[in-house]
Amino acid sequence: MADLDLAIRGGTVVTAADVTRCDVGIKDGRIALLAESVTDAPKSLDASGLLVMPGGIDSHVHLAQHAFGARMADGFETGSRSAVAGGTTTVIPFAVQPRGASLRESVVNYHKEADGKSHVDYGFHLIVTDPTASVLGQELPSLVGDGYTSFKVFMTYDDMVLNDRQLLEVFECARRERALVMVHCEGYDAIKFMTERLEAAGKTAPYYHSVSRPQIVEREAAHRAISHAELLDVPIMIVHVSGREAMEQIRWAQQRGMRVYGETCTQYISLTADDLKGLNMDESGGKYVCSPPPRDHSSWEAIWEGITQGVFQTFSSDHCPFFYEGSEGKLNPKARTSFRWVPNGIPGVEVRLPILFSEGVVKGRITLERFVALTSTNHAKMYGLYPKKGSIAVGADADLVLWDPNRTETIRQSIMHHGADYTPWEGYAVTGWPVQTILRGALVYDDGKVMNAPGEGRFLRRKLSPFAMPTGIVRHGAAK
Ligand code: URP
Ligand code: ZN
Ligand code: ZN
Repeated sequence: MADLDLAIRGGTVVTAADVTRCDVGIKDGRIALLAESVTDAPKSLDASGLLVMPGGIDSHVHLAQHAFGARMADGFETGSRSAVAGGTTTVIPFAVQPRGASLRESVVNYHKEADGKSHVDYGFHLIVTDPTASVLGQELPSLVGDGYTSFKVFMTYDDMVLNDRQLLEVFECARRERALVMVHCEGYDAIKFMTERLEAAGKTAPYYHSVSRPQIVEREAAHRAISHAELLDVPIMIVHVSGREAMEQIRWAQQRGMRVYGETCTQYISLTADDLKGLNMDESGGKYVCSPPPRDHSSWEAIWEGITQGVFQTFSSDHCPFFYEGSEGKLNPKARTSFRWVPNGIPGVEVRLPILFSEGVVKGRITLERFVALTSTNHAKMYGLYPKKGSIAVGADADLVLWDPNRTETIRQSIMHHGADYTPWEGYAVTGWPVQTILRGALVYDDGKVMNAPGEGRFLRRKLSPFAMPTGIVRHGAAK
């Protein structure tokens, strides 16, 4: 083939299915050729000694989503810059419907934040906080048709929580429209009860965030969401699973033949509630406040059990960055009065691949193929981007990461590309690091340096997910 634009030469190509020594030929931003030797491109990159993998897809990030009265540390420019530096070429952040507002209008507003600013390709999930008749009857169906084919619902947070009736109505709409629902499973009332009791006892430091929402509240909500999904025969994705309790609920549902999927995240294999410790606001526990909170070492083992048994399809970052310092950061004046007001979320889009590679592949827990499935291919399949994204195959977008499996690095704020003023993984040592990232055939990250301009990332209208198809097995008679 004489008219290639670029060849990646000498690398080992890894997909979710295979590990192969071959070269990659790229033409017009897409993969045009996989062959033992590609010599006739005008430009080439030397990948000898490197792995060539599909660019990461992070299907759970929050960008420009200001919350808890705090300003998010990343908009699309810095958040996507951090993504590309971590070997990720596609992100799916959220467009949130504020209560009382139109969902369509919210989507228009998030596009204003994103369009022309992103270094990587992006889609949007919707967050439904106010499922009125017009949202369920008109807005959601039309938005699904426009490529927003998944939405998230919350079982906690004052300004997001849906009650059981509302959850059922959103699930019913998702089933009708063939959209995939992501569920944040933590029980609102139990958390509120615990929070009030802790505050009354003067236990207000960030550490008590983890005490206020133990695994049992996650397990209860996961079971409730699964029951609602079973009643209606609707597939659901339970996101950011933190430990054994919720993992076992998902496994139980899967063993019953239900289409219940699971996502876990970097923090649940690498941080613990001890990181939140310190009974003083200034002892840096606030840096680790996220929900569900990180648990303990035995929870890490439970998460690995879920990963290796296939309970989890996706491994995401839940990148939700807030500043630590300053009047709009995690320790803003209101947050200093109680953990209840500390903005929930941590930055992590850049370290997702290195930490999973180091803990998973290097330590022999998962294969290279499974690493690619968990970080890229399954995200594309679950969220309607496959086979354009998520694989190395002729015709797919040439989104690639060239990965040095032997390079050791220590994660430090000074080498991060995000907008936050800290990383929760300061001093964390990893083996395996992204060297170059390629987006639709263009070199966009080269060993520490982001090479493309903001705005070169494109919006992705997503297809319906085949994983959102109901089973057709109606056990309880309520599905239509
Ligand atoms: O603490 C977290 N995870 N904040 C982000 C919002 C969410 O629930 O995903
Ligand atoms: Zn959530
Ligand atoms: Zn999240």
